[in-house]
Amino acid sequence: MAKSVKSVFFCQECGYESGKWMGQCPACHAWNTFVEEKIQPAAPGSKGAAGFGASRRISENVPKKLSEITFSEDERTGTRIGELDRVLGGGIVRGSLVLIGGDPGIGKSTLLLQMCHHLTEMGRKVLYISGEESLQQIKMRANRLGGNAGELLLLCETDLEVIQNEIAKTKPSLVVIDSIQTMYSADVNSAPGSVTQVREATAVLLRIAKSEGIIVFIVGHVTKDGSVAGPRVLEHMVDTVLYFEGENHASYRVLRAVKNRFGSTNEIGVFEMAGDGLREVENPSEYMLSGKPEGASGAVVTCQVEGSRPILLEIQALVSRTSFNIPRRTATGMDYNRVNLLIAVLEKRIGCDLSSFDAYVNIAGGIRIGEPSADLAVILALLSSYTDKEIGDRVMVFGEVGLSGEVRAVTQAAARVQEAKKLGFEKVIMPKANLKNVKEISGIDLIAVNTVKEAVKGVWG
Ligand code: TYD
Ligand code: MG
Repeated sequence: MAKSVKSVFFCQECGYESGKWMGQCPACHAWNTFVEEKIQPAAPGSKGAAGFGASRRISENVPKKLSEITFSEDERTGTRIGELDRVLGGGIVRGSLVLIGGDPGIGKSTLLLQMCHHLTEMGRKVLYISGEESLQQIKMRANRLGGNAGELLLLCETDLEVIQNEIAKTKPSLVVIDSIQTMYSADVNSAPGSVTQVREATAVLLRIAKSEGIIVFIVGHVTKDGSVAGPRVLEHMVDTVLYFEGENHASYRVLRAVKNRFGSTNEIGVFEMAGDGLREVENPSEYMLSGKPEGASGAVVTCQVEGSRPILLEIQALVSRTSFNIPRRTATGMDYNRVNLLIAVLEKRIGCDLSSFDAYVNIAGGIRIGEPSADLAVILALLSSYTDKEIGDRVMVFGEVGLSGEVRAVTQAAARVQEAKKLGFEKVIMPKANLKNVKEISGIDLIAVNTVKEAVKGVWG
């Protein structure tokens, strides 16, 4: 039977499929991400992406009562990397498919190799398959990481068929695929890294994970230029999606779950890239504040809650006379529009005129702020730099600011105050509406405010 080859266009970002090329993806709104791929219709009876080995097991596959289904906690394996276990929801679940996405060079291979080391040391059979690096390169990295994992199995391969056979032969309990964009199946006639290839490879790995009970970790590079399919294309197929983030210039990295069938997506893991691999950062607040200058104007400490973890951060603002017609405003680590809005509030409600001043806001340490609880701290940092008066080294500030200059309540106020107290802060400036949440906390000076004006008065009198 002659197969007719069909042309299909895919968004490399999110996998949206279309019969024609489009400039902007209607699903994820990315520009110029569509590429043409030739699809050969699957022959009847060939293995499809759906249902791993379904036809084989039709007779035994019957519904079970919920009460009859057992799940024991030893289905989970700890990795001896506490921060990773936390993000996974308490360890890796047998038969799960986990995707780790992130920019190239962020440390995905390093993290997974470290995990493989630990599991090998614990006596597990682990197979690390790399389509990117040679055995010597992996060995060099392994040497840097130290440890004693001589039994770890390494394979440099990109052909999925060979990989499938190898997994069937060695029967490992965990497989790492580094990276999915280099994998290639002869069943699909498009290039490695294309949406169809990446999906096919993931479907094969999914079948292996579910039918054999093997844990499979997949590395997926995020690429800005859309030259290969991004990990978002696979998000719906896998059990758990983790993203590894961080600024390239900063050594600090955050591991975040964006999807987890076996745990919450609220947790983050914090790591630091060192000479001997990734180190866990158990006390992120201390780490974030380690370079904070004493007695500098324009620097204000706030607290952001990531999952269940409060993290103290330093907000830095610099306000200086402009030499441009239109003053410059920049924001690093937080939303640019939010900074502009806060500057407008500062001008209108405090009456400080910034129209002839540049304003720069930066979150020290390379972390990104994603919640409005830092608003009040940003305003006070701007004002502190403008007036060149410091706010004090042992002061922490949090609260959302509204357009009329009101300071609004935020979530988890008690956790934020506790964290400040733990790190030796003496004073907290916070929303009055949150006061009832923190009344049991003693030994720290609480200044509760309703408006930005009251906050300014609370700091400088
Ligand atoms: P890598 O794990 O290769 O990133 P990815 O797999 O996400 O592309 O990490 C690459 C960077 O990490 C590289 O620039 C070197 C640095 N690195 C260290 O600083 N220390 C180390 O011990 C290792 C192994 C890597
Ligand atoms: Mg890598």
